[in-house]
Amino acid sequence: MCAAPMPPLAHIFRGTFIHSTWTCPMEVLRDHLLGVSESGKIMFLEEASQEERLAKEFGFKPCEIRELSQHEFFMPGLVDTHIHAPQYYFAGSNLDLPLLEWLTKYTFPTELRFQNIDFAEEVYTKVVRRTLKNGTTTACYFGTIHTDASLLLAEITDKFGQRAFVGKVCMDLNNTVPEYKETTEESIEETERFVSEMLKKNYSRVKPIVTPRFALSCSETLLGELGNIAKTNDLHIQSHVSETLDEIESVKKLHPGYKHYTDVYDKNNLLTNKTVMAHGCYLSAEELDIFRDRGASISHCPNSNLSLCSGFLNVLEVLKHEVKIGLGTDVAGGYSSSMFDAIRKAVMVSNILAINKINTKSLTLKEVFRLATLGGSQALGLDKEIGNFEVGKEFDALLINPKASDSPIDLFCGDFVGDISEAIIQKFLYVGDDRNIEEVYVGGKQVVPFSSSV
Ligand code: GUN
Ligand code: FE
Repeated sequence: MCAAPMPPLAHIFRGTFIHSTWTCPMEVLRDHLLGVSESGKIMFLEEASQEERLAKEFGFKPCEIRELSQHEFFMPGLVDTHIHAPQYYFAGSNLDLPLLEWLTKYTFPTELRFQNIDFAEEVYTKVVRRTLKNGTTTACYFGTIHTDASLLLAEITDKFGQRAFVGKVCMDLNNTVPEYKETTEESIEETERFVSEMLKKNYSRVKPIVTPRFALSCSETLLGELGNIAKTNDLHIQSHVSETLDEIESVKKLHPGYKHYTDVYDKNNLLTNKTVMAHGCYLSAEELDIFRDRGASISHCPNSNLSLCSGFLNVLEVLKHEVKIGLGTDVAGGYSSSMFDAIRKAVMVSNILAINKINTKSLTLKEVFRLATLGGSQALGLDKEIGNFEVGKEFDALLINPKASDSPIDLFCGDFVGDISEAIIQKFLYVGDDRNIEEVYVGGKQVVPFSSSV
């Protein structure tokens, strides 16, 4: 019997590909061929010497191959495991207060404004464009308590082609800005409406996520009901945990019947293998073990932890406890919407822990690169679909040009000995920016430069 002919490929690239695997934080694959199917899946990634065999197997001609120039390379798209889309409105400002005061003075009043759908449209369009341009191919978004504005965020994300989780924020407690909260019933009903509208839309790469803001803004009844909704519909869950010492003290007072902060979520079915919790700076060894046992993950948001003077997350300790971990920008507690900033700040925080002899070693740039790509995909339960260039995964990728016009990187003749050196890759990770990101792909589709239809 003859095999059915292969459907045509959407892309065949030849050049350098860098990515992480679980055994190697950064593999540099020079002079390789990568093929992407019409449905966006990676069909092969092999040495260019295999061209003839691959051409026969996949039915392509040499003229269909796009050759990257010598200094360009592909890397996997970045996964932002924690970002507040409405807070993009004030990103880069208002970082002069600790978390709880910051929420009261700046965050809640801003989020309240998202009842105005035109305002929401402007901010949400800008945050999706900016993050995509900065290389975020997957974002895990908090919206606000407003269902319609959160549905609009999902629609905009889908229109631009970004992969995302979108959450309508739930909060039935708010002593400091009482206008910005829901009743318990409203929060439950609106979450059900949000989830059902999202499932009706059936976006291919944008999914709903159950989003209790944090233990301090949710009653026990609400936490329990959100746990039930997530369980019934098999949904992802996101929230915040152990970000600051003041917050932990307040959680103890508000929810005295629990052993610790983690227990508040755990007892309410909110700690599952589809949960991602931001921060976790002060989690005890016992709490980390609960995270591992439940398969829940942590989003490390170093810019926010430094900007709001919240604390330091010890990533090496989290990894020692085998807890899944990715990186997040936490806009606007973090002032930068770029995951390259998250990478740099994660290295710096790790260095601070080493300087202070809390750890005997520091995370390497390559290990942090893995957290921002493969780690993030695992933290969001997407590691079978994305995170690196393994055959069978979707092609979420950034085409990087360290020599782009107006590039912030100065290169010298020694940087190019034949092919791309590791020094160039490191220079790009430390000092590159969106000017070096020539193209962005999500699920095999080019989404940056933006198409004229969005
Ligand atoms: N904890 C509860 N809400 C928030 C928020 O919006 N940002 C941060 N960084 N922490 C929170
Ligand atoms: Fe946050």
